[in-house]
Amino acid sequence: MAGTGMILFISLLLAGIISPSASQNCGCSPGLCCSEYGYCGTGNDYCGPGCQQGPCQASPPANGVSVADIVTQQFFDGIISQADGGCPGKGFYTRSAFLDALGSYPSFGRAGTADDSKREIAAFFAHVTHETGHLCFIEEKNGTSQDDYCDKRYTQQYPCAPGKKYYGRGPLQLSWNYNYGPAGRSIGFDGLNNPETVANDVNTSFKAALWFWMENVHSVITSGQGFGATIRRINGAYECDGKGVDLMNARIRYYQDYCKQFGVAPGDKLTC
Ligand SMILES: *[C@@H]1O[C@H](CO)[C@@H](O)[C@H](O)[C@H]1NC(C)=O
Ligand SMILES: *[C@@H]1O[C@H](CO)[C@@H](O)[C@H](O)[C@H]1NC(C)=O
Repeated sequence: MAGTGMILFISLLLAGIISPSASQNCGCSPGLCCSEYGYCGTGNDYCGPGCQQGPCQASPPANGVSVADIVTQQFFDGIISQADGGCPGKGFYTRSAFLDALGSYPSFGRAGTADDSKREIAAFFAHVTHETGHLCFIEEKNGTSQDDYCDKRYTQQYPCAPGKKYYGRGPLQLSWNYNYGPAGRSIGFDGLNNPETVANDVNTSFKAALWFWMENVHSVITSGQGFGATIRRINGAYECDGKGVDLMNARIRYYQDYCKQFGVAPGDKLTC
């Protein structure tokens, strides 16, 4: 009995360490694959079918969709051309950096039917457009004068470095120490000591956005919960349940626009 109790205690402890409630993550070291079930390792069990991140085996994509064929230069330019000339993002964000980052996330935009792929890609770029003002911003507006985004609940696991701030950076405005830590570990940079990498290296900025998406959002859209559920995952506390209707609606309009450009119905459950 004592033995069983101890095993239960240890596994609860491990569960707490591996997945803080704010973000389920694999956070594997570079070179390791994140398995379908969220564990780090190598070989077919980790890098084979269902592999979420890392050097996943280039198995034939589930639905044969080429994300690059959907995210054309014309589509990308249609977003960034709406940012003012003086926007910092204009000389930074590129389609080729998105495609480079995509290489690390082979399951992005490839789940379900070809239409499901288009909806996931439309959703991703709708949030990117909203979060960055059509790819205008690299860093959160007034980020340096804001709170340091150091969530003390996770400092044992993801200690905040002195003088560093974990405000929004990149296409999905990665924020908080509990995201910078595992994102950096997964992508291959020191997210806690060098969070600015997300704003300085464009390939890393898109990898950080796709990392966040695959950890937090991919599963809700691919399981048919609708665009509204993706809003809840990204900024639900401020926009869902009537808290930020205008912001929610802005995201929905971008999503509908991109679905239209891709020739796919947006589906239902758009609000949250
Ligand atoms: C980004 O990725 C592309 C394609 O892999 C590569 O050619 C380029 O050098 C990378 N840029 C940086 C800044 O690492
Ligand atoms: C952001 O900074 C600008 C100029 O520095 C200032 O005018 C504005 O009030 C600031 N906004 C917020 C929300 O702090």
